[in-house]
Amino acid sequence: MKKRILTVSSANMDFVMKVEKLPEAGQTVVESRSYSYVPGGKGANAALALARLGADSIFCARLGSDQNGKKLKELYQSNGVDTRFIKLDRLNPTGLASIIVEDDGANRIIVYPGANGFLSEEDVEDAFTCIPDAVFIQFEIPDEAVLAAAKFAKKRNIPIFVDAGPARTDYPLEKLPPLEIISPNESETLALTGILPNNSDNCLRAASALLNRVPAKYVVIKLGGRGAYIHDGKFSQLIPTFEGEVVDTTAAGDAFTSALTLEYLNTGDIVKSVRYANAVGTLVVGKAGASSSLPTAAEVDSFLRQRGAF
Ligand code: RIB
Repeated sequence: MKKRILTVSSANMDFVMKVEKLPEAGQTVVESRSYSYVPGGKGANAALALARLGADSIFCARLGSDQNGKKLKELYQSNGVDTRFIKLDRLNPTGLASIIVEDDGANRIIVYPGANGFLSEEDVEDAFTCIPDAVFIQFEIPDEAVLAAAKFAKKRNIPIFVDAGPARTDYPLEKLPPLEIISPNESETLALTGILPNNSDNCLRAASALLNRVPAKYVVIKLGGRGAYIHDGKFSQLIPTFEGEVVDTTAAGDAFTSALTLEYLNTGDIVKSVRYANAVGTLVVGKAGASSSLPTAAEVDSFLRQRGAF
């Protein structure tokens, strides 16, 4: 049976430009390579990744009643995402992200939240009528919506998976109920704990600090090219990632945590799930764009077979 995962999170249209080198303040750089509009948003990337990886993916979000909103909803539907709980906001436009990708694949993102900023407790409550097996939350929506999703999940004994992006130092983690997995990246870990997870001692300190703020079965810190660090309160393990070309890191973290969630729900094996998520992250950074880079389950299986890791 397919796992039914409810993603409560954000949707954006991404405006993406590639640059060789970022301009200094006051400098104008003429960059004649093409620009693109690519469907993105942390939540949409996760919901699409889950659908492509074989989950029954339900997305609770807010889009504007505009062209971008229309295009995004059509894309979700054509990828098999259940869009019944996406609300169309008449007053606010669809979220927009301005993304600059440097030649080494690193990105810088500025988000105008638009309709995402109006996702409400009522929107979230409505979505729980789908009776999910798990709920997947990120922080690119109002705290009210995140806390509502956690509250409704807890009330129904539904496991909660948190991808702690985007980074925010004042996030009220203490208000969340016990989680199954919380997965921040390096900058999110720094923002939430004040500790940069740049070596194994600091990974352990940061993971323990996170567990002091919110109970979770596992902390999984995403370390980019170094892999991911698992901590369960007692034991820790660094799972290195796979070698691969880095074209654009956009959406790698969203896809990693969604793959981790699905594989963990399917197998209950955290190490196997992180390896699977590492494979998905490697495939995503090898392609340009957010939603355009998300692999299918068959692509991940073939990658793992090629790398002798199946
Ligand atoms: O995590 C990548 C995403 O962050 C982009 O798609 C952008 O829309 C922002 O939400």
